[in-house]
Amino acid sequence: MKGVVLAGGLGTRLGALTSVTNKHLFPVYNQPMIYYPIQTLVNAGIHNIMIVTGGNSAGDFLRLLGNGKTFGLNHLNYTYQEGEGGIAEALSLVEHFAADDPVCVILGDNILEKNIRNAVDAYERQRHGAKILLKKVSDPRRFGVPELVGDRVVHIEEKPKVPKSQYAVVGVYMYDAAVYDIIRTLKPSARGELEISDVNNAYIERGAMTWEELDGWWSDAGTFESLLRASNLVAQTADKLESFDGAKISANV
Ligand code: DAU
Repeated sequence: MKGVVLAGGLGTRLGALTSVTNKHLFPVYNQPMIYYPIQTLVNAGIHNIMIVTGGNSAGDFLRLLGNGKTFGLNHLNYTYQEGEGGIAEALSLVEHFAADDPVCVILGDNILEKNIRNAVDAYERQRHGAKILLKKVSDPRRFGVPELVGDRVVHIEEKPKVPKSQYAVVGVYMYDAAVYDIIRTLKPSARGELEISDVNNAYIERGAMTWEELDGWWSDAGTFESLLRASNLVAQTADKLESFDGAKISANV
């Protein structure tokens, strides 16, 4: 299984903060934001990783991350997204890297408390189709929201005005190599993006989607409120956080 961290886009919801840099380089408590999703993949046993960056500060990712030594890696792969065509567009850029292998994709602004290795292992046993992670949240309207019939996800609606459940779709997705053909069929949404929820709906319509409930806390960090929340959650749990090994990282700096 290969790993993908999506850190493109322009982060326009953070206003002046992102006018000269990329949001994934911002601090979340004591580490750059992008450290957390990379460490989440590494902790799940995924070591062959591609980072998708974009905007004006793409070179800063290379300076910060290099070959991934901080995470015990020998090599990191990079690619560049022009503009902000959406999460699914960013994912389409990894097709050559992934070849026919399945991928575990994580959004560069998603911070998870716990290890996702069990879900990754379950997906490797599943072998085909896709898997998503769901988490109950107080404000589902900010996210992709699943409609459930029994324990089956029948549809995902992106940022619904009237959510059909209390769950949000977490920014961690596992896909087989069919995902690139699916992305080629997508049309931009009203916000002008190729939506990852449309990708997930295509898998649901094929009967090829599974899901699990995420254990532990989860936060995105793409708005002022969620950036602050993520920093506070990390600060409160830093000593036992599984999404990075603070001691190891400090020792390597
Ligand atoms: O955080 C989970 C949510 O992330 C999901 O519940 C939603 O279904 C999903 O659409 C997404 O929602 P957001 O509107 O919060 O996504 P955002 O535009 O903030 O992008 C999240 C990350 O995806 C961002 O940190 C970098 C990456 N991205 C995004 C865009 C639009 C790219 O790499 N390229 C892009 O063009």
